[in-house]
Amino acid sequence: MPAVVLVGAQWGDEGKGKATDLLGSRVDYVVKFNGGNNAGHTVVIGDEKYALHLLPSGILSPGVVPVIGNGVVVDIDVLFEELDDLIARGVDVSRLLVSSQAHVIAGYHRTLDKVTERFLGKRRIGTTGRGIGPAYADKINRVGIRIADLFDPKILREKVEGSLDQKNHLLVKVYNRRAVDIDATVDELLAHAERLRPMVANTPLVLNQALDEGKNVLFEAGQATMLDIDHGTYPFVTSSSATAGGAVTGSGIGPTRVDSVIGVIKAYTTRVGEGPFPTELFDDMGEYLLKTGGEYGVTTGRARRCGWYDSVIARYASRINGLTDLVVTKLDVLTGLEKVPVCVAYDVDGTRYDEMPDDQSAFHHATPIYEEMPGWWEDISGARTIEDLPANAQAYLARLEELSGCRISAVGVGPRRDEIIPVHDLIHARA
Ligand code: GDP
Ligand code: IMO
Ligand code: MG
Repeated sequence: MPAVVLVGAQWGDEGKGKATDLLGSRVDYVVKFNGGNNAGHTVVIGDEKYALHLLPSGILSPGVVPVIGNGVVVDIDVLFEELDDLIARGVDVSRLLVSSQAHVIAGYHRTLDKVTERFLGKRRIGTTGRGIGPAYADKINRVGIRIADLFDPKILREKVEGSLDQKNHLLVKVYNRRAVDIDATVDELLAHAERLRPMVANTPLVLNQALDEGKNVLFEAGQATMLDIDHGTYPFVTSSSATAGGAVTGSGIGPTRVDSVIGVIKAYTTRVGEGPFPTELFDDMGEYLLKTGGEYGVTTGRARRCGWYDSVIARYASRINGLTDLVVTKLDVLTGLEKVPVCVAYDVDGTRYDEMPDDQSAFHHATPIYEEMPGWWEDISGARTIEDLPANAQAYLARLEELSGCRISAVGVGPRRDEIIPVHDLIHARA
């Protein structure tokens, strides 16, 4: 019966896709509950590499029912592009379910995302430009379009008209752009409606029934704790609830059903886009992590900013998500370093902070207090037990576990599916 939530513990790209794939053979449903095609998950199976954006990574596991939950924002063109790409590669995508309550990303959301970023100039967020923020803004502002609206063209037109009412004034008068055409927008949205119809379902009902029947359901987050709209480094965040609470509201199950929460965390830290990042490296070491870790965004191709492991963030993520298990990824990337610094606390203008400052200015001013761990040189990609690792790599993990407020249940030692060290079973009933 376990309902397992899987979230990113840092600023994204921790390896959630690989972790989901790892559990794929043991779960019946994989639910994406937040975000949209701003996500980029890489899954490597044998010699094949897949990049997923809008679809849950579980779509690659035979037998799994992939679900796009009500908390997701769906760009319908992207949905079918991704599906067609997988179909062409021989993946069976026929079980996909899409919530009728999920919101739709329209062309005007993408336009607004780009023009507002340009308008913000130096204050920009560095978004992925996929229309995520404007689509969620419409949802909260109660002028959004939902999947169910696509099956009632009259209502759809009224809603598009309502939504564009203010936006066209804004586009024309403030941003000096052309007004968006209502009919063309409606036609674009309706283009794939018939193909979509059989996938649309009452997904909260389906998921609750699945749990009642004792099925295993994995709730897979896009983005991560530090990008969460409430708990992240606001305003440099995404516009959805990427933490464990989002799994509940974004899929329509009750919090009492969740058995465990897995946090995926890199053995160092990366971030794409703007915003504060205390352990960021601006020297050769940052360059080294970028190159060795292949840290380029899956969605936008941007180089990721790189820095050391930050245990203040790990403890924060453990607390905010109620983590039961940590999956530490990319330990192999640290191989070959003389010393591996770990941030244990922050110094903010002379005051030590062991926990995340509650005040955004303090976080912006935080400088890391490091502890240096001795490095290792041996190739660890073949390690399959903790004992296979060099003593210094074992000591590094033991220190991360002590500092991070959560047990380590698996360790990634390479991108491939089998390059993992299992420590504790990741699918378990509530303790
Ligand atoms: P996600 O957005 O959290 O799913 O992560 P991404 O796919 O954006 O980025 C993680 C990257 O790290 C991908 O290229 C993965 O193939 C790769 N990866 C995942 N786990 C490991 C690991 O343990 N070692 C190495 N070297 N690469 C990994
Ligand atoms: P996965 O699921 C890393 C970042 C963007 C930007 C901010 C807001 O692969 O971990 P948005 O387009 O969402 O409005 O952009 O959030 N961002 C991500 N960074 N990984 C992601 O997803 C991200 N999704 C959004 O770079 O800083
Ligand atoms: Mg990613």
